[in-house]
Amino acid sequence: MFAHVEPFAGDPILALVEAFNADPRPHKVNLSIGIYFDAQGRIPVLPSVRLAEARVVEEGGPKTYLPIEGAANFRGAVQRLLFGANHAVVSEKRVATIQSIGSSGGLTVGADFIRRWFPKAEVWVSDPTWENHRSMFEGAGFAVHSYPYYDVVGGGGVRFAAMLDALARLPAGSVVLLHACCHNPTGVDLSRAQWDQLIPVLMERRLIPYLDLAYQGFGDGIEADAYAARALAEAGASFFVANSFSKSMSVYGERCGALSVVCPDARQADAVLGQLKFDVRRNYSNPPIHGGQIVAHVLADADLRAMWEAEVAAMRERILAMRKALHGVIGAKVPGRDFGYFLSQSGMFSYTGLSVAQVDRLREQYAVYLLRSGRMCVAGLNEGNVERTAQAMAEVLTD
Ligand code: LMR
Repeated sequence: MFAHVEPFAGDPILALVEAFNADPRPHKVNLSIGIYFDAQGRIPVLPSVRLAEARVVEEGGPKTYLPIEGAANFRGAVQRLLFGANHAVVSEKRVATIQSIGSSGGLTVGADFIRRWFPKAEVWVSDPTWENHRSMFEGAGFAVHSYPYYDVVGGGGVRFAAMLDALARLPAGSVVLLHACCHNPTGVDLSRAQWDQLIPVLMERRLIPYLDLAYQGFGDGIEADAYAARALAEAGASFFVANSFSKSMSVYGERCGALSVVCPDARQADAVLGQLKFDVRRNYSNPPIHGGQIVAHVLADADLRAMWEAEVAAMRERILAMRKALHGVIGAKVPGRDFGYFLSQSGMFSYTGLSVAQVDRLREQYAVYLLRSGRMCVAGLNEGNVERTAQAMAEVLTD
């Protein structure tokens, strides 16, 4: 019966994690998947999350089905986190938010919704983008194209003029997927001034902005990283934003995220919410309860919230310290080459510019695992492995 089923080539990120886990070398270094590891190389359980979870368990609410759209306290907390407590889009009930299975779940529910209600739309993603974006939107039935983003030849910034030019030529109703902060995979973000230039183009061309906000807090801070969402809302745009708590609360396996659609008025937001519920119901029916309640407790309780904000700041600062350490060591080992990008890029990821052959050699010879695109997860570095990683990188770069 299944003779025609072809083998899966493997996901470029998750297959690498499997290979890393199977690697018996004790000194192996995992710089592949976008997960924050602490200074001891462990995935932390944040104290704020541990306390919130204890409260959730103590309250002992029934493990009933949530409403299709998710828990009201979670959804409200997400809106306030994204837009600020008193933003007009929230008080005027112009945001349709569903609790989703990670931000991936939110992205795909939004993709299904757009495909049904904007059937002629095509999708534009940055070049490059997260490996899974293209398959998600293609899976929903879209043609997916890319717009210029990362400047390979010009020193690793954003090709902003080319990006604006490409977007200004898109047909009205095209979906433009944008990384709100901590661009995955490059670590190269738009500046605020660039967002301010981009937003009028998106609006004049009547494009559909779709923000992926998976790393809130890892760029410049929890509030600062919401800039794109808030600036779009401020400009009166209608747009989608999928956000995640996987990284910011270190609750990866709880699969906690949300999709919010900012609409022109409350009536349209109500209709959009209803249609998102239709998409959820026929897909996975309703979201899981446990992780979302932990997140809602952390965001709602003033003490837990303050604790969490400090924890996010500490994670962000540790990544920055590792960027500096790597930059210092490798700069000394490979003089004459500019590694300034390790310092200027933002968030967990660094586009190293290493070739596929160099990445393969790092993995095979030195047990240092990066994505074959050259993306490194800086959050996998620590005091115990940064020197060795820099030495290995220096060797593959200079041989
Ligand atoms: C990543 O880019 O490594 C993360 O977003 C994890 C994933 O699911 O790919």
